[in-house]
Order: sequence, then C-alpha cells, then structure tokens
Amino acid sequence: MENLVKELNNRMHGRSAIEILTYFIKEYNGTIALGSSLGLEDQVLTDMIANIDPSTKIFTLDTGRVFPETYKTLQETNKKYSINVEVYFPNSEKVERMVNEKGINLFYDSIENRKTCCHIRKIEPLRRAMTNIDVWVTGIRREQSITRILNEVVEYDAINNKIKINPLLDWTEKDLWDYIKKYDVPYNALHEQGFPSIGCEPCTRAIKEGEDIRAGRWWWETPEQKECGLHNRNNGQVAQQS
Ligand code: ADX
Ligand code: SF4
Repeated sequence: MENLVKELNNRMHGRSAIEILTYFIKEYNGTIALGSSLGLEDQVLTDMIANIDPSTKIFTLDTGRVFPETYKTLQETNKKYSINVEVYFPNSEKVERMVNEKGINLFYDSIENRKTCCHIRKIEPLRRAMTNIDVWVTGIRREQSITRILNEVVEYDAINNKIKINPLLDWTEKDLWDYIKKYDVPYNALHEQGFPSIGCEPCTRAIKEGEDIRAGRWWWETPEQKECGLHNRNNGQVAQQS
C-alpha cells in the first residue's frame, strides 16, 4: 500500500485539484468519499465533485455541537447540487456516559477530556463513515497550521488504513474565495465574521487580524496540540516551529 501511495503521489505532482479528483473518482469509483466539515475548502471540493460525479459519497460528522450556520450550509449545499451529504452522529450511549460523568463542557478542563470528546463525537463516527471506503478526500491545506506543513497530496493514513488525498494542499485562502465567488458556491456565513476555520461551537472562536487561520480552534491549547485526531500524522511527527 505504501509504495502505491508514493507512486500515486508522484503521479499527481503538478496536477490541478480537478485533475486529481477526476483521476481518483474514476479509479476508485464507489469507494471514494469526501469528509466535509462544510468549511470553505470542503465547499470547493463539493462543487468540483458534484461536477465530476454527483453520486460520489460526501459525508459530514455531526458532533451535536456545531454552529446553526453549519446546518444552514448543509441544507443549502444539498439543495444547490441536488445531493445528499450523509450525516453521521456519535453513539448516543457514549455521549450520555461522557457528559454525565465529566460535564457538558468537559473539553475546557483538560487536554485529555478534550481528546475524549473529539474521539467520541468525531473519530468513532469517522470509522463508521469510512467502512468500505478506500480513498478519503480532505480539505487539508498546508498554510492551515504547523501540524500540516509535512502533508502530501496523496498520503497513506495508517491509522485508518486508507489512501488520503488532499487536492487543495497548496491552495491559499484567496484561491478558495476566488473559486467560491466565481462559481457561486454556498458557504458558511461565519467565514465573513472572523471564522476562517470552523469546528464545534464551544471549541471555535473568531480570530483577530493577523492571527493564524486556526488560532480560533481550541484556542486555550498550544499549536502542536491542536489536532482532534481526525488528521494525526501516522508517526505522530509534526513540523518544528522555527
Ligand atoms: S479538524 O481536524 O481541525 O477538525 P479541519 O476543521 O481543519 O479539521 O478540517 C480539515 C478537514 O478534515 C476538512 O477539510 C474535512 O475533510 C475533514 N473534516 C473536519 N471536520 C469534519 C467533519 N465534521 N466531518 C467530516 N469531515 C471533517
Ligand atoms: Fe468535543 Fe470540542 Fe472536539 Fe467538538 S471540537 S468534539 S465539542 S472537544
């Protein structure tokens, strides 16, 4: 698998996002899926995928703690493209146990609690969403954070045993907005209120001018810790801050 991924990564070198998606949707038809947070990157990818093959699986993990604006974006997206973004919920018994034992806003108390919450509300549902899926499409971009500098366009996700592709890896925020405006893609209204990166409501806040794109995510933690587990690198390695 790892050799195949290396070869695919070399083959995709210099190709545009649409070319990369077109290649993988054709080669892995029926076993490829976009995981969408309904954020700007994922909306661009959804538009591209809907143009290539609207039957491609697109799923979102509804943690139960997302913003109302995110649900609005979901509804508008389904309507605009006549698609059905599949929604995955966390296991209700696990959420009940966690909240009753540790409190509704347990994530502010410790990193361990925050990771437990992300695990129950995101990671376990992700595993279910990716049953029978070989290729996982994500909206990861290098400029999002120091934890993402080392990503590749095509990667092997050893934790989930999937090929992971990041077609927008080298896109800038301006590239995203240019695309969104040009093709009239629906987007989350919070992006225009200081939220470049949107996750769960209690763990996301607006950023100030000049701050990092993901400074508003888990703002009480240090940058190296700010991954919820969806995108942990296989060997736990992150780029060092200079
Ligand atoms: S996170 O790990 O910090 O939450 P981020 O918000 O930067 O991730 O999004 C990176 C990519 O992870 C998105 O482009 C998307 O592919 C995937 N992703 C994040 N959140 C979700 C979600 N709720 N449902 C499905 N995919 C998601
Ligand atoms: Fe829980 Fe916050 Fe993680 Fe959402 S981002 S799953 S609320 S800890």
